[in-house]
Amino acid sequence: MARRKKVYEGKAKILYEGPEPGTLVQYFKDDATAFNAQKRAIIEGKGVLNNRLSEFFMKGLAQIGVPTHFIRRINMREQLIRSVEIIPLEVVVRNYAAGSMSTRLGLEEGTLLPRPIVEFCLKDDALGDPLVSEEHIVAFGWANQQDLDDMVALALRVNDFLSGCFLAVGIKLVDFKIEIGRIWDGDYQRLVVADEISPDSCRLWDMETGQKLDKDVFRRDLGNLTDAYTEVARRLGVLPQNVTPAQKPKLIN
Ligand SMILES: Nc1ncnc2c1ncn2[C@@H]1O[C@H](COP(=O)(O)OP(=O)(O)O)[C@@H](O)[C@H]1O
Ligand SMILES: [Mg+2]
Repeated sequence: MARRKKVYEGKAKILYEGPEPGTLVQYFKDDATAFNAQKRAIIEGKGVLNNRLSEFFMKGLAQIGVPTHFIRRINMREQLIRSVEIIPLEVVVRNYAAGSMSTRLGLEEGTLLPRPIVEFCLKDDALGDPLVSEEHIVAFGWANQQDLDDMVALALRVNDFLSGCFLAVGIKLVDFKIEIGRIWDGDYQRLVVADEISPDSCRLWDMETGQKLDKDVFRRDLGNLTDAYTEVARRLGVLPQNVTPAQKPKLIN
């Protein structure tokens, strides 16, 4: 049997050639990395949860008219997606101060921001994904002004949608990151939400207790990451079967 061709292997996912031109298979690994891959671990079951959660959010976005790369889920760890030209920027939306914004601006984590703030970081691991301004983006040709306006509008729609999803299950969406890609239709391009939307790329705090339910659990050694993601999936009604490995057979005396 012919093996599928691997197109790219990243930190958390692998891309394979899809069954039709213009498609890819996105495989979700259990690998977790933080601080630009200086901290690494295998978190059993993470890939399965992120595959399901990303499917859930991408489908929901499509239902409210936000275009995404998602076509369909194939199995526990794989989904079929449209191949896009990724814009080399991480688009970050923040509702509350946390992480690098708190450090940079001296804001206490959890401070409500006056309005959602959209930031762009250059997708470049070697440089540590530095924050860049719209001036940089246009001057260096990573995107043009029209793309930027479209990306901000897209990111804010995703923010409203995700904030609502999480609010309904008692979770605060502190911030998140998306990647956006171009799909060409002749001479016309359309921007779509690509990559993944999962607790790997969001900051999620329990509304009542403030408990962290996202990758900060791993970054800051706050407990079991799979348990946190399982809780998010359970609240959203997205829990797949067999997240935890089957129990080993027990010896009966
Ligand atoms: N629809 C898509 N078409 C092409 N590339 C994509 C698409 N969605 C995501 N990607 C890219 O695939 C890679 C996903 O793997 P990941 O492990 O997240 O990689 P990385 O370590 O580069 O972040 C990312 O580089 C992302 O930009
Ligand atoms: Mg990535």
